[in-house]
Amino acid sequence: MQIRNPQSVRQESLVQIETDIECTIVAKRDVPILAINNSKYQAFQLRPREEYKYVEFRDIELIKQIGEGGFSKVYLVNNKKTKTEHALKSIRKDFMLSNGQVESIKQERDIMKAMNHPFIIKLQEVFNQQARIYFLMPYYPLGNMRQQLRLQGKFPEEIVRLMAAQLTLAIATLHAKGIVYRDLKPENILVGNDGYMVLADFGVSRQLKPGEASLGRVGTVDYIAAEIYRGQPHSFPVDWWSLGVLLYELLVSQAPFYHDDLEQTEWNVKNLPLRWPDPKHHGPGFSFKPTTKSFIRGLLDKDPKKRLGGVEGPLEVLRHPYFEGLDFAKLEKKELKLNWTPKMPQPPQQARAAVIEESVVSRAQLELVLQNKQKFSHFEE
Ligand SMILES: Nc1ncnc2c1ncn2[C@@H]1O[C@H](COP(=O)(O)OP(=O)(O)OP(=O)(O)O)[C@@H](O)[C@H]1O
Ligand SMILES: [Mg+2]
Repeated sequence: MQIRNPQSVRQESLVQIETDIECTIVAKRDVPILAINNSKYQAFQLRPREEYKYVEFRDIELIKQIGEGGFSKVYLVNNKKTKTEHALKSIRKDFMLSNGQVESIKQERDIMKAMNHPFIIKLQEVFNQQARIYFLMPYYPLGNMRQQLRLQGKFPEEIVRLMAAQLTLAIATLHAKGIVYRDLKPENILVGNDGYMVLADFGVSRQLKPGEASLGRVGTVDYIAAEIYRGQPHSFPVDWWSLGVLLYELLVSQAPFYHDDLEQTEWNVKNLPLRWPDPKHHGPGFSFKPTTKSFIRGLLDKDPKKRLGGVEGPLEVLRHPYFEGLDFAKLEKKELKLNWTPKMPQPPQQARAAVIEESVVSRAQLELVLQNKQKFSHFEE
């Protein structure tokens, strides 16, 4: 690799890049463009400019809260220096400690950092502050698929097929790296202006060793696979099950085994056969192609060993006749027109005060965090 105009290039500093090789970083107009391996005189092109931003925590200002989960809050934030909007996930260390979540948040960070795929959210920075860990991500103003589903009611078959293809590629990428996602649901899928989507929230994802399975109830009621409800060890096929539930819900506007009583939902998942709405009663909008039905039926096989994707993995899913004629390479490059326009959701939770602030961490809780400081030392590298 040659540097064309050496006058405009200056040497920045010596840093470690992902390869763990000590490199000299060369920057052009402050944007790092090349990393030169000092021992071998090889040059590596660095990530594109928009993915390579230095953000300082002190430049971040909270604008409003846009999400809340078990251990975290998500804010829309502004980078005062670059005037760019981002989403910031804030996780309290005392909650992580008292709920034994330090390792799983570390895994969430590791998984997000390792991913570089158009349909998986990017982790831009991690900030390790005194009382909290923060993940900085691109902001998706159109929110999540649950909000879109509420606004659109349900989606036409062809649009769902393209959504299914994006999610299948995202899941396939994770599985190829040995990661089981475990929480596929509309709330964890964010929507871009162009209608393309990204998978977010790797809070319960796990890296599995070859042949390893996981135990325990994990996921969200309507999307939990039959084997998890049966208390059996689970692995990659759980994601294909959740994909089946999600696609059914996008087409029909209700999850296939839905019941407002949670125990009854569990019973339905374990025992009820899959049923489709009858177009005679519900209208022609509820009539689906045989390939659509066979795809979703395959994903919703209660036996993970017979499930679509459970036998031969992602390739089996990608090769199903449901996707016949679909150009996955073009889709991955976002060159296919998706024929749907996401709607802007109602502004989510406005800031209650003029200046939005984080909750107060009590002295005792902070004490606990300080005593365990070393447990968080590997969060920021
Ligand atoms: N980058 C983002 N842009 C826009 N909205 C976001 C973004 N990240 C998260 N959100 C919103 O915040 C909600 C919660 O985010 P996320 O799913 O990451 O956290 P969580 O469910 O609180 O996590 P956990 O399950 O680990 O406690 C999402 O459903 C989405 O509506
Ligand atoms: Mg979530």
